[in-house]
Amino acid sequence: MSNNLLKGKRGVIFGALDDKSIAWKVAERCVEEGAAITLTNAPVAMRFGEIQKLGEKLNAEVIPADATSLEDLENLFQQSMEALGGKIDFVLHSIGMSLNVRKKKEYTGLNYDWMQKTFDISAISFHKVMQTLWKMEAMNDWGSILALTYIAAQRTFPDYSEMAESKALLESFARSFGYHFGERNKVRVNTISQSPTRTTAGSGVKGFDEFFDYADKMSPLGNASSESCADYCIMLFSDFTRMVTMQNLYHDGGFSSMGMSPKVLEM
Ligand SMILES: NC(=O)c1ccc[n+]([C@@H]2O[C@H](COP(=O)([O-])OP(=O)(O)OC[C@H]3O[C@@H](n4cnc5c(N)ncnc54)[C@H](O)[C@@H]3O)[C@@H](O)[C@H]2O)c1
Repeated sequence: MSNNLLKGKRGVIFGALDDKSIAWKVAERCVEEGAAITLTNAPVAMRFGEIQKLGEKLNAEVIPADATSLEDLENLFQQSMEALGGKIDFVLHSIGMSLNVRKKKEYTGLNYDWMQKTFDISAISFHKVMQTLWKMEAMNDWGSILALTYIAAQRTFPDYSEMAESKALLESFARSFGYHFGERNKVRVNTISQSPTRTTAGSGVKGFDEFFDYADKMSPLGNASSESCADYCIMLFSDFTRMVTMQNLYHDGGFSSMGMSPKVLEM
């Protein structure tokens, strides 16, 4: 269902890897709502070829960029402005990867070189995205910048490992850069804290399936799907949320406000 909520807006969507990716659903909904977008992902993700299919389907240019490379980001935003015909109204950062989780290192025995790389990919890249947009003056006034996060930034979920600290850093960057972008351009910066979702990044966490069921039972509305996350992103890119900034917004079916649920006791 389209309400043309993003009609005339231009956006850049990071992180669509395959059709399970949250960013994939967001990209589809953005175009459905009338936006023109470019898609981007790390050059290595291009090899799978899926994002090209999405680009063709949505008539969106696909521009490779490693989000940890300032050079790549500058090129991405320059090319995006050329392809879209003007400055950018909204950006989605949907990027996460932990080297220690991938290599199955316990939290009490982390490799610090990998940890730094994890922080660079999963959190500092968000600052790099915003700093590049800032220096290039690439955002339109009243634009909207979003990143996806997880409640492990506030509470302990042991198997989430160093991604918990990555998300805490990411959320803090949203508040700090949100101040500067708000003052200069009336651009808002927020993070959406999403339910566990079956994607490549999500399923990489140990015990994901059991945890998914637990979170589903703990949440009065159940886990939020990637489709409903896309709807929430649309709202935050639209002009209906122009005064919302520097917030971490839970999109989790109520999970974050629960203490205990009888359904979980019955499990
Ligand atoms: N799946 C979940 O359970 C869940 C829950 C809450 C938040 N999130 C967050 O949602 C976001 C999207 O993840 P997803 O679940 O859709 O999984 P996904 O695996 O589909 O997306 C992660 C993306 O990050 C990209 N990426 C990795 N390194 C990169 C780099 N150097 N430069 C550019 N892109 C890079 C990958 O190619 C991939 O497209 C992540 O921030 C994730 O932490 C996911």
